[in-house]
Amino acid sequence: MDKTYRICLLPGDGIGPEVVASAAEVLCALPLAFEFSQAEIGFGAFQKLGTPLPQETLDAIRAIDAALFGAVTTPPNIEGYFSPVVRMRQTLDLYTNLRPIKSIPHPSSREGIDILIVRENSEGLYIGSERMEENGERAVTERIITRRGSERILRKAFELARAGGRQKVHVVHKANVLRQTCGLFRAVALEVARDFPDIEMKEMLVDTCAMELVRAPQQFELIVTTNLFGDILSDEACMLVGGLGVAASGNIGADAAVFEPVHGSAPTLASTGQANPLAAILAAAMLLEHIGEAVQAQRVRAAAEACMAAGEVTADMGGTLSTEEATQAVIHNLKD
Ligand code: NAI
Ligand code: MG
Repeated sequence: MDKTYRICLLPGDGIGPEVVASAAEVLCALPLAFEFSQAEIGFGAFQKLGTPLPQETLDAIRAIDAALFGAVTTPPNIEGYFSPVVRMRQTLDLYTNLRPIKSIPHPSSREGIDILIVRENSEGLYIGSERMEENGERAVTERIITRRGSERILRKAFELARAGGRQKVHVVHKANVLRQTCGLFRAVALEVARDFPDIEMKEMLVDTCAMELVRAPQQFELIVTTNLFGDILSDEACMLVGGLGVAASGNIGADAAVFEPVHGSAPTLASTGQANPLAAILAAAMLLEHIGEAVQAQRVRAAAEACMAAGEVTADMGGTLSTEEATQAVIHNLKD
């Protein structure tokens, strides 16, 4: 144990605190040293402090090795409230969004799938640069794609492919119609690909990709795409391999990284002990990979998969375990 990793927990609202606690329990069961801190985010923070994303939270995330975020509740139409998740990604410049899409040993999953979706997380349509014109008769969204933004995400995608032993990168765009914005993304991709002669670059239009993900998802190894396309394709793809109960993601920048389950705060499940902790636990596995503990990450993932295969899971996956029992089952299944 030569290093103490500093992890900031961002429990948030609803089932967020329950699943983050589960993931932290699993981390604590590993032969690693962690120093945990905790910070406020979400609607609870807004009610208490007047903002869903306090400055101290941003400072706390910047100061540590990685953060583990639960989920927040975003009620509509509350004056002064904004989505802290989108704001956090922007403020901390977490420009890479990672969504591993991997088959699980469970009837809800298709077999033979192992895709890493790399989504640009800082520009494009999804940042919501919008305005009304003509007295509300015309609504406009700006889609800004930059060479810098494209180059850093594409380079990251090829590097991740190489590091993960993936031989093929699908660059997904709509450059036949969006000739300027997607055209720039595509042109930069062709340039970056030249620096990675060991990896095959393929191009695919986003609508084709949406179809192919359903038809023959096994063909993909890594997909890199712009922000909104990545948002949609990654949600589509996660339904091939078990869905929300197990889907995890990472948001990574140059100075900070935040890992989270894909699901929301599931308010109706909060405090019932029924929340599935596996998505948060798999997010913790991604965090381990990010801090350089790939072996421990693989142990956690294998333990979670052993639980799925044995039916030691919560009700949403057909089991009978509570959140805490499902967490203990993962810990019990950790193998050397
Ligand atoms: P949701 O993901 O919270 O729930 C969707 C469905 O999946 C519900 O039936 C829920 O019970 C179930 N579910 C979700 N996570 C589960 C888990 N771990 N175990 C068992 N079942 C689970 O999405 P929904 O209902 O659309 O939104 C609820 C709140 O969460 C909203 O306020 C929304 O804005 C927020 N939200 C937050 C996100 C985040 O913090 N990243 C992402 C998505 C939604
Ligand atoms: Mg989404």
